[in-house]
Amino acid sequence: MKKYQFSNNDQMPALGLGTWKSDPGEVYTAVREAIKMGYRHIDCAAIYGNEAEIGQAFTDAFQSGDVKREEMWITSKLWNNAHLKDDVRPALEKTLNDLQLDYLDLYLIHWPVALKPGIGFPKSGNDFLSLEEIPIQITWKAMEACKKAGLTKHIGVSNFSIKKIKALQSNCEIRPEVNQIELHPFLAQNSMLDFCNQEKIVLTAYSPLGSTDRPTVFKGPNEPSLMENPTIVKIAKNYGVSSAQVLICWAIQRGTSVIPKSVNPGRMKQNLDAASMTLSEGDMKTLASLDTHERLLIGGFWAMPNSGYTMASLWDE
Ligand code: A2P
Repeated sequence: MKKYQFSNNDQMPALGLGTWKSDPGEVYTAVREAIKMGYRHIDCAAIYGNEAEIGQAFTDAFQSGDVKREEMWITSKLWNNAHLKDDVRPALEKTLNDLQLDYLDLYLIHWPVALKPGIGFPKSGNDFLSLEEIPIQITWKAMEACKKAGLTKHIGVSNFSIKKIKALQSNCEIRPEVNQIELHPFLAQNSMLDFCNQEKIVLTAYSPLGSTDRPTVFKGPNEPSLMENPTIVKIAKNYGVSSAQVLICWAIQRGTSVIPKSVNPGRMKQNLDAASMTLSEGDMKTLASLDTHERLLIGGFWAMPNSGYTMASLWDE
């Protein structure tokens, strides 16, 4: 398995198991099975609502000798309602408690969007705090303090534009080491990849298979299908693999980490196997030609009237 190395020599396995939309009741088994078949990177978040069950799976995997804690790479994310400086550490401590861990490998600011404390998902513009009220630099300072306290080994961001990362870099003590964003052949974000390579930031691809199982509120009309795209299907056929495997291999081969979600052991194994595949240069070029800058997670739910956020300010494009 390819790994990405950090300046302190820690290594993140390129393939991780995504857990967004993995429901309580199924995620315990999924994580236990994933670890048994060789997954060493699990991507979590407080807002997914399943960290307590994942924590039980970790404890049972460690106690039964399936894996040691130090062999795992475990990521979680700060939800938008805990951006105030005194709220960051308690949010991380709650996640550690739920995951039954002493430390995370990576803690990310989930979105460059702040909600008032106590708001899970906003119902109106009133539920937001603007980035003027709570600048991201303040939240980042609290993230830095968590790293210094040993609660997480690395800190980073998610859904950040190049512009927002640069603003953070120019005013921080510890630079963000990871940005986790939506990436797949329809949204290759080559300039972000170039920027991250140059800045030694690991880029992680979420929704690499198109997240077809997400709630309709997160879906646009006439959304294109990655898995059924004729070009991807044809390449998959040539290698005798699935579309999902082509998508995962593409992500790793271009130097990103990737976190496909599955709760099905057969598909989890398929996805793991994709991490050792190689696509030809020609096929990588063909896949590159599919880039239409099509976001599946457009983030429209953050751009409510009077929220202080717009689509343009969210993505800086
Ligand atoms: P399931 O959990 O039942 O396997 P994403 O990672 O882009 O969010 O996509 C997750 C969706 O893709 C889920 O619906 C998941 O279903 C499905 N999925 C995961 N791996 C595969 C695979 N190898 N083949 C087909 N569908 C897959």
